[in-house]
Order: sequence, then C-alpha cells, then structure tokens
Amino acid sequence: MKRFPSSHLFSAELFPLFKKHFELCKVKKGEIVVIFKDAEFNEQYPAAALAAARELGAEVLVMTVPTDTTTQALNSNKAIVNCWKSADMVIGMTSKVHWLYSDVHNEANNAGARTLMLGAPVEELIRLFPTEEVKRRSLNGAKLLTKGKIIRITSDAGTDLTMSKEGRPGSDQYGYTDTPGRWDHWPGGLVACAPLEGSVEGTMVINTGDILLPLGRYVQSPIKLTIREGKIVKFEGGFDSNLLKDFFEAAKEKNAYQVSHIGWGTHHMARWDAMMLRFWEGGGAMDSECYLGNMQIAFGSNFMKLMKGKNVCKFHFDIPTRNHSFYLDNQLIVDKGVIVPPDLK
Ligand SMILES: [Fe+2]
Repeated sequence: MKRFPSSHLFSAELFPLFKKHFELCKVKKGEIVVIFKDAEFNEQYPAAALAAARELGAEVLVMTVPTDTTTQALNSNKAIVNCWKSADMVIGMTSKVHWLYSDVHNEANNAGARTLMLGAPVEELIRLFPTEEVKRRSLNGAKLLTKGKIIRITSDAGTDLTMSKEGRPGSDQYGYTDTPGRWDHWPGGLVACAPLEGSVEGTMVINTGDILLPLGRYVQSPIKLTIREGKIVKFEGGFDSNLLKDFFEAAKEKNAYQVSHIGWGTHHMARWDAMMLRFWEGGGAMDSECYLGNMQIAFGSNFMKLMKGKNVCKFHFDIPTRNHSFYLDNQLIVDKGVIVPPDLK
C-alpha cells in the first residue's frame, strides 16, 4: 500500500475507516493535523486522512518531501521541525523516509504533538483495528516493564540473553495516539523497552521460521548471534546467517550491531503468515511485530523520546521471533511464546 496506488475512488472508500480511527485519536475542532508523506507514497491514504480530519473539525495540511530525504535532512529543515512542533497531531505516511528515530519526531512529541505512523495495507488496518483488549494488554505490560530492571530471554533453540533496563521506561503501542506527546502506529499492539546500551550479554538464536523483517524473510536455518557489551560480535550459521551479516556490514555503521529494543506482541488478531502474503505491498511488518506472545528484538537506532534510547544510527533491524521465554526480574512473562500473567493475556 505504500507504493501501489489504486483508484482515486479508494479514498472515498477509506474515509469512514479513517474517521473512526481519528475519533479514537481524539481529533477535534480547531486542532492542527499535519499529514506528512514522501513522494512515492500512495495518494489515496493522505486524501482519505485529509477528509476524515476535516470532517472532525481539524485544520489539515499535507506536507510532501522527496523520497530520498534523509533523517539528517529532516532534522536540519527548520520548516519541517517547526511545522511538526506546532501541530496537535502529525500523521506520518512514508514509503522510504525514516522519521521515527529522528530529532524532528522527538521534538514534536516533546512539544506535545501526538504522532501516528500509518502505511500498512488496508486489510491490516481493518483486521488489526485497535481494541480495548489490546490496549489493556499493552498498557499493563508497559507498566510492568517500567518497574522491572533485569530481562532474561531463553529458548529451547539455545537463546540465553540477559540485559539491564534500569531507569528505562516500558513503552506501549495500542494502535492509536490519543494523548499529547504520544507516538503510536496503526496497526499496533506491543510492549517494548530500550535496554541500557552495553548491558546485553549472551547468545541469541534466531530459529527456523523467525523473521528478519527488513529482508522480508522467514529464517530457513538457525542463526546464532553472540552478543557482548550490547553488540553482536559473532554471526554463526548457514546461508541466513551470512545474509544477515552481509546486510549489517553493508550499512557501514558501527552502532548497527547494538541492541535497540526488546519486548513482546499484544495483538491477538496478528498473523505470522502476513509477511509472506503482503510484504510485496509494504505489509506484514506490524503483524509480525504485534503477534501475541512473540519476542521481538531489534538492533540499531533507538533514539526515541518514549524509550529514552541513546543509540543514534541510520540502521534499524527488527527480528520478531516465536517460542521465546521472557523473564523480568525472574518473573516469567512469556513462556515459550505464551503470555503468563493473567492481566497481560
Ligand atoms: Fe523496531
């Protein structure tokens, strides 16, 4: 959906769906809503968003930047920074421009603007539409994660990883942004935190069937990562391991190897096969990231107000996995892919 335009009538078809979502986001009369897109992104979503926000009484503007705009260029463009900071809500719809881990985004959130990422195929927007159940799981999970200090991840395949997150908040995604300074993603449903840089130690096994998200690939043979002082120091395995190692090396970023964020999925309607079905149209990402009871680990940038991460980097790599166990201060939160505490189920 990011790159494949369809009929202009599709905007009209989307309007009720977007209006229903923006009502959850509490878009109201007199607010300023900025729709931020890049040139390659489809025209139907911004048009539907413009109509929906106007219908709710907001002042709306659409800002389009070239598709090759770098995060650094965003950060240094005062017109963009000031526009985001003075908005009540910014809706980011980009195919390639990375704004999530940017100064622009952090400054906008700090100024009170709420932000929303929107770009998944419409089937996913509908199937993963926010629910109270997902919100409850995410909020309760983030509250628990905020209080915890030590995370341990294990699996039968050989993962045994420990890290400290002391002083770092748990962040929640429940699919809409309804309070000042909040970021969220539609679709969304997960809990995450940025561990202390340098504290991650141990072995991570990405097993067959786990997902290398930026590559749109289900792993065919296990990859063993050795992590020391927060960074990957060794890749072991077959073809998939070499593929992953090559991809990291191509980034030419020393901070690419650093653990970015870790957490679990909270959306019961997310599907593990979605990436196979929809990666070609920019889909599958949030299904795999939000899959109920998954364990997601990421490497690279985590410089984001809501997680208080400190790693500034042009590289970010998400790895959603199945069948991992997640311990927080020795309390079992996820047991081999199944959430344990009743209030997080
Ligand atoms: Fe990520």
